[in-house]
This record gives sequence, C-alpha cells and structure tokens, in this order.
Amino acid sequence: MTDLRRQLTDANTAVFADLGLPVEYARVTASDRPDLADFQSNGAMAVAKIARQPPREIAVGIREKLTGHPLLASIDIAGVGFINFRVSDTALTNRVQQIADDARAGAGEVKAARRVLIDYGGPNVAKPMHVGHLRSSIIGEAIKRIYRFRGDVVIGDAHFGDWGFQMGLLIVAATDENKDLADVVTFIDKGGDIATAAKAIDKLIDLDLLERLYPVAAAKAKEDTDYRDRARKATADLQSGREAYRALWRQFVIVSRVALEREFHALNVDFDLWKGESDANDLLRDMAEELADKKLLIADQGAQIVRVARDDDKRELPPLIVVSSEGSAMYGATDLATIVDRRKTFDPELLLYCVDQRQADHFEQVFRAAYLAGYAAEGTCEHIGFGTMNGPDGKPFKTREGGVLKLHDLIEMTNAKARERVKEAGLGAELEPEAFEDIARKVAVAALKFADLQNYRGTSYIFDLDRFTSFEGKTGPYLLYQAVRVKSVLRRAAEEGHADGPIQIREPAERDLGLILDGFDAALMEAYDKKAPNFIAEHAHKLAQGFSKFYAACPIIGAPDPDTRASRLALAAAALKQLEIAFDLLGIEAPDRM
Ligand code: ARG
Repeated sequence: MTDLRRQLTDANTAVFADLGLPVEYARVTASDRPDLADFQSNGAMAVAKIARQPPREIAVGIREKLTGHPLLASIDIAGVGFINFRVSDTALTNRVQQIADDARAGAGEVKAARRVLIDYGGPNVAKPMHVGHLRSSIIGEAIKRIYRFRGDVVIGDAHFGDWGFQMGLLIVAATDENKDLADVVTFIDKGGDIATAAKAIDKLIDLDLLERLYPVAAAKAKEDTDYRDRARKATADLQSGREAYRALWRQFVIVSRVALEREFHALNVDFDLWKGESDANDLLRDMAEELADKKLLIADQGAQIVRVARDDDKRELPPLIVVSSEGSAMYGATDLATIVDRRKTFDPELLLYCVDQRQADHFEQVFRAAYLAGYAAEGTCEHIGFGTMNGPDGKPFKTREGGVLKLHDLIEMTNAKARERVKEAGLGAELEPEAFEDIARKVAVAALKFADLQNYRGTSYIFDLDRFTSFEGKTGPYLLYQAVRVKSVLRRAAEEGHADGPIQIREPAERDLGLILDGFDAALMEAYDKKAPNFIAEHAHKLAQGFSKFYAACPIIGAPDPDTRASRLALAAAALKQLEIAFDLLGIEAPDRM
C-alpha cells in the first residue's frame, strides 16, 4: 500500500536512472501550489550542474519519458524547470478506494519493529506540576501513540519523581505537625509491626495533607537552615533504608500517584509504567562500582564524577556527578541507573526522553555517560525537548495567584470554559446533563491538546483559553465539530437506508479531499521521524477543512444520483475514519453528537 507521492517518486526515479541522472534528486513532493498541480519535482534544477544541461531541458526530457504514465493526467514545466504533476482521476480514485477499504486508512507501518521506551510526564510526589510536566504529558503521549501505531513495541514510563529532597521535607513537615505520625515513627523505630503501623499511616496521610504541607515546608526550607538540614538528614535516612521513613514514604507515593493517575487519565494520558526514581536506588552502588572498574569514575573534590566532555564540544559540558560530596545520589546518577534498569527489564532499542528543553544538558551528560559505560548503544538515547507554554507576559504560565498551575485546576478551568463555549455555539442543548458533560470534557481536552500539538514542539506558545476553546479557527473544538458533522451525515444516511458504494473522484472538492487523504502516510512518517506530533495535528486540520469544503460543494445525501451518493458516502466515511485515527494519535476524542 503506497501513497501516490511515493508511487510518483518511484516512477521519477526510474526515469532519472534511465537518463543517467543521480536518482537521489528524483523525490516528488506535494505541490506548493495546489491551484496548479498535485505534486512536483524540483530535481531538474538540482541536477543541472552535475548534468551540465539547462534545467528546463532536463525537465523536458523527464516529461517526455513520463508522458502516458497511468498515474498522470498531465505534466507541466513551470519557471526554470519545476515539474508539476497532476494525477489522473482514475489513479486518485483507486488510491482513495484503497484508503477507504483499509482499517489503517492508508497509513503504513515500520518494516522492523523496535522496542522503544518513552520517558514522559515526570511528575513528582507532592510537588505541584508545572507547564513542563503538562507539555511533556501531552507531547509524550502523542509520540507514544504514533510510535505504537507505526508498529513499534512501545512502553511509556512516567518516571515518577519519588526520591528527592521533597521526600525528606514532607517527612519533617508531617511528623512536626502531627503528633500521631511522630508516634508511629517512634513505634517503627522501636521495632513495632510494620503492617500495624501502615494501617495507622493510611488514615493519617491523604492528598490534602501533602498539598497543604509541601509548599509551606518548601518555603520554610529556603529560609531556615536548621529546617533544611533536618529535611536533608531525613532524605538521607530514607534513602539508606530507615523503615519508619520508608513507611511514610510509601503512603506519600501512593496518595500522590492515585491522584495524578486520575488527572492524567482525564487528559487521555495513561502510562504503562509508573516506575520511580526510587527504583534506581538499589542499583546505584553496583553501578558506581562498575563505573570505577571501567575507570570512568573519578574522585573530584570529594565527589565521584564521570567526565563526559568531548574535544569537539563548542562549550564545555560539566561532568556527570554520580555521588555528591555529601554522599547523596544525584539526579544524573539516578537517570543513569534507570538506563541500567531499563536495559535489564525491557532492553529498549530506542530511549526517548520527552522533557523540557531546559534539561538538555542534563540528558547530554547522562547519555554520554551511558554510551561510555556501554549501558546503551551510541545514538540510541534521545532527548525530545520542547519549549514552554507561556502566560500573556511571555513567561512560563502561572495561575492568577502567581503559583504554578495544578493540573486539577487547569482541567477544571478548561472544562468550565468548554461548557460555556458549547452552550454559546448553540450545541448540546437537547442533551441530558451527563451527555452534555461528556461533550464539554472532550471539547476541553481537544482544546488544550490541539493548542499545544499544533506547534512544533520546540516552539513556545501563549496560553489563551478563549482562543483554544473557540469553535472557529485552527482549534481542537473546530476539528471535533467537523468530525461530528460527518458522523451525523452518515447516521442520517443510514437511517434513510442509503448505503455507500464504489468511490468515484470527479469534482474538484472530491479531488482535494482525496489528495489530503493520500497525504496521511507522509504526515505520519514525518511525525515519527522527527518525533513531532504537529505533523499529525496539521494533517487533521487539513482533513477537517477538506471535508468541510467537500460537504459544502458536493451534496451527499442530496447527491444527483444514487451512485454519486454512494460514492460520496464512502468518501465521507473514509475521511472520518482517518480523522479519528489522527485524533487518537493526538490523544483526543470526538463525541458522536453535539
Ligand atoms: N521529575 C523531573 C522534574 O520534575 C522530570 C523527570 C524527567 N525524566 C527523567 N528521566 N529525568 O523535573
């Protein structure tokens, strides 16, 4: 199953070979001028120098050889030697029929599946999420789905931040405030039964407590050195295995995770694994020994480091600190040990880290250390960085109170706006409250995610809920609305007893829609290669627009004759199928009606 663009590239390649031209320039792409052509080749210009011939002459030669090709209705030469192709209605009809008959709507698969691990989300116990976590979750989820759809074996891991200083802070804050908790700690310290203690802890620690304690404790630690030292000490005790602290910690982790999982799920973000930074803890000692054996670990001012700088670096990359001078394991060490763990358990052939661009150096250090130590093959670890979601002031988005956003609040805020918008658009009026709520939720998720995913991930963008939730323009709600329109046409046709039939591409709007459908695989491959879901978002938007124009120009149920109606119904169904696949890849969902 090959798209037209590749079929044309193949044909053009054969001609280039025939003419003794370098075939790597034979690539055919979608036309920059859809008003003039469907596809184009710029190869004649590219090879003119090598062939020592004017490009136009070369183009004429190519045209001659391609004339009469069954895919083509016409070949024109424009300007200095652009070759413009227009495919025949028959070729397009065949291709669109193929897409209509295909469960994957024309999308290809990888030749050899790889094991791919995607590290994304990266929320932390008790610490509120910031926009970096939000974007990581949205983008990472889409990349996971895109990789899986192309046929790879993919695992998504939340890499839960459950092991840092914030754990010590929480331990100190919680036991200071609550005498009962302090008593439980003493009870365990004196050898009391863990299961009994755990039951008490379960009653004493809930999410509200963590959310209340953490910000206060974090602020206090900034000013109060004694407090900070106690929290550090508690962190170290926890990490070296003090049972009582482990027991508190387990509850912190469970409570946070349950809440986070629910909120992520509301955004259609679901992780396969919730491994934590803590899972790397037991591997650290062996890893340090191994690094020492390999002569990679160097003592430096009381710390243990791995030098990762290379001679050709443009600026100096600091070493990876494996053990700090205070003896605690560092973020970099944890990530390196996590690679060891992943290798043992899943042995990924590709490791993608979807994390804020600001952590680029950290990952470069970890990856280089992993390559040096032989924990991963050179080039198999990749940092998928992204820009920030900004407030109107151009700085990373904060709530009105100036705090970092809580995922929960963001979702609530977006849901409220979505409800307003749906009502305003005169939609959902005759629906039951439950069905209405479901629609508002879907609109909210689509609004938030599409606003993010339509940008190339490296680009920062401004948070603007009014614009994101509008049913007009390049927005998630617009896309959902178009999908719902197709669904309602198909439903009505079925009610009136009209079946679909063989597709026949004739009208310009049918041709345009057909060409868009044909472009899905190219968009998918680009998104896959570049780890950039915006190519899918772009395609979905084009497809929604293409359908809308087709629907305006070509009556479906009111088509002039039964065959045309059957063809248009099949075309609409194909568009819907592809659109829904694209939605799924982006992690959004269309309701059945609005
Ligand atoms: N928890 C980290 C943070 O909040 C992000 C984790 C990213 N993933 C990783 N393997 N380091 O910054």
